[in-house]
Amino acid sequence: METARRRTLALTDCVDDADLSAQHSPLMSPLVWDLAHIGNQEELWLVREAGGRPGLRPDLDPLYDAFQHPRADRPALPLLGPAQARQYVADVREQTLDVLDAVDTGPGQAEPLLAGAFVFGMLAQHEQQHDETMLATHQLRRGHAVLEAPEPPAAPADAATLPAEVLVPGGLFTMGTTTEPWALDNERPSHPVEVDTFWLDTVPVTNGAYQEFIAASGYRDERWWTEGGWRHVQDAGLEAPLFWERDAAGGWTRRRFGRTEAVPADEPVVHVCWYEADAYARWAGRRLPTEAEWEKAARHDPATGASRRYPWGDEEPTAEHANLGQRHLRPAAAGSYPRGAAPSGARQLLGDVWEWTASDFSPYPGFEAFPYKEYSDVFFGPDYKVLRGGSFGSDQVAVRGTFRNWDYPIRRQIFSGFRTARDAAAGEGGGAG
Ligand code: AVJ
Ligand code: FE
Repeated sequence: METARRRTLALTDCVDDADLSAQHSPLMSPLVWDLAHIGNQEELWLVREAGGRPGLRPDLDPLYDAFQHPRADRPALPLLGPAQARQYVADVREQTLDVLDAVDTGPGQAEPLLAGAFVFGMLAQHEQQHDETMLATHQLRRGHAVLEAPEPPAAPADAATLPAEVLVPGGLFTMGTTTEPWALDNERPSHPVEVDTFWLDTVPVTNGAYQEFIAASGYRDERWWTEGGWRHVQDAGLEAPLFWERDAAGGWTRRRFGRTEAVPADEPVVHVCWYEADAYARWAGRRLPTEAEWEKAARHDPATGASRRYPWGDEEPTAEHANLGQRHLRPAAAGSYPRGAAPSGARQLLGDVWEWTASDFSPYPGFEAFPYKEYSDVFFGPDYKVLRGGSFGSDQVAVRGTFRNWDYPIRRQIFSGFRTARDAAAGEGGGAG
C-alpha cells in the first residue's frame, strides 16, 4: 500500500492545482477525483467494512461513487480541492494502519475481507489500477512533459531471430484460480478448459507491422472490419493508433507523455482499440486469441500439467521478467524479457501492453461477486472485451496470469495492444492434455 501511495503522490504532485482539477479528456476524471476516490474506497472497504470503524467522511461516498456520476460529469461536482484531497487520503491511511495493527489477518480469520489480508491486497490493487488510469490521463494531457521516462532495456540479441509464432498444444488446462490470495472475484474459481492446438505470435504486434496494415489501406478496406468496427472507423475517422501523426516525410510520429518522437518500428503497438486489433488480425490472415487461449499460453506448464502464477513460474515479477510498474514510460522492444518467457516460448505476455482478446467479459462457472457487484458483475456481457497481461503502467500487485481487464471495443486511451493467433492444422502438435 505504501508503494501504491508513493506512485499516487508522484502522479499528482507533479502538476499544479489547476491541472489537477482540470478534465484532460471527457473519457477521464480530473486527477483530483481519482486521488480522493482512492481514499474513499480505502475508507469504505478497509476502515469501515473490514475494520468495523465509523470512518472519517461517509458523507463523501456519493461524490466518489463511480456509478453515481459518469466521468464527464465529475468536474462539475463539489469535489475536495487538491489540498483537502491530499489531507483526506493521508487521514484515511492513518486509520488503515491502525486497523492493520488491530486485526488478525491469518488464515483462521472467518471474515473473508481480512483472511489472508485480502482487503489490504484489494485496496493496494485498486490504488494501482487508478494510478494506471491517472497515467493514461497524463498521456492525454496537453503541455510539457512532467514524468521521468527512463529507457526500457535494449532488446536481447535473439529478438531479431525469434520464430514469428509458437505452438500451444491442445488439451485441458486450469483457467482462473481459487488459491491465489489476492485474486479478484472475476478470476475465480479455477476450472478446467479445453483448448485446441493453436499458434500464437511469439511477441505482441509491433508498430512496424501495424504500419504495413495502414500502408495497405487497411483502415479503408471494409473486408477486414466487423460491422460495428467499420461503422466506428467511419464515425470516428480512425486512420492510425491514437496519438499518431503523419510527419512531412510521410512517416509517423507520436506524442508520448508530452514529448514527440518518431514511432519506433520494433516496439509493440499501443493505443489501438479492439476493432483495430481485430481488423489487423483479419488482414494478416489470422485472428485474435480467445481469452482461454491467452491464459493457456501464459500459464500452462506442459511438463507438470499445472498452471503457473506467471508465464515464467510462480516467483514474483522482477525487473528481469517484465516491463511493469511505470518503471519505463513505454513498452520495451518486441522480443525483450527472455527470462519472462512462457514454456511455449511466447514473450512479453505480462507487462508492456495490455493485449486485446477475442472474448467478451463473462463470469467463470461458479463465479460469486466479492466483495461488491460493481467490481465485475455489472460489466459481464457482450458490451466489453477482455484484455490480458497488463502494461508498462500496471503494477505487479495488480497483474498476474489470471488477471482480467475489460473495456469497450472502441476504447484506446488505455495502454492497449495485441498479438494474433491461428488454428493449427489437423495433426499439428496435438496433445491428449
Ligand atoms: C478493471 C480497470 C476495468 O478502472 O474501471 C477501479 C478497475 N474498478 N475501480 C476500472 C476499477 C473500480 C476497472 N478496470
Ligand atoms: Fe475505483
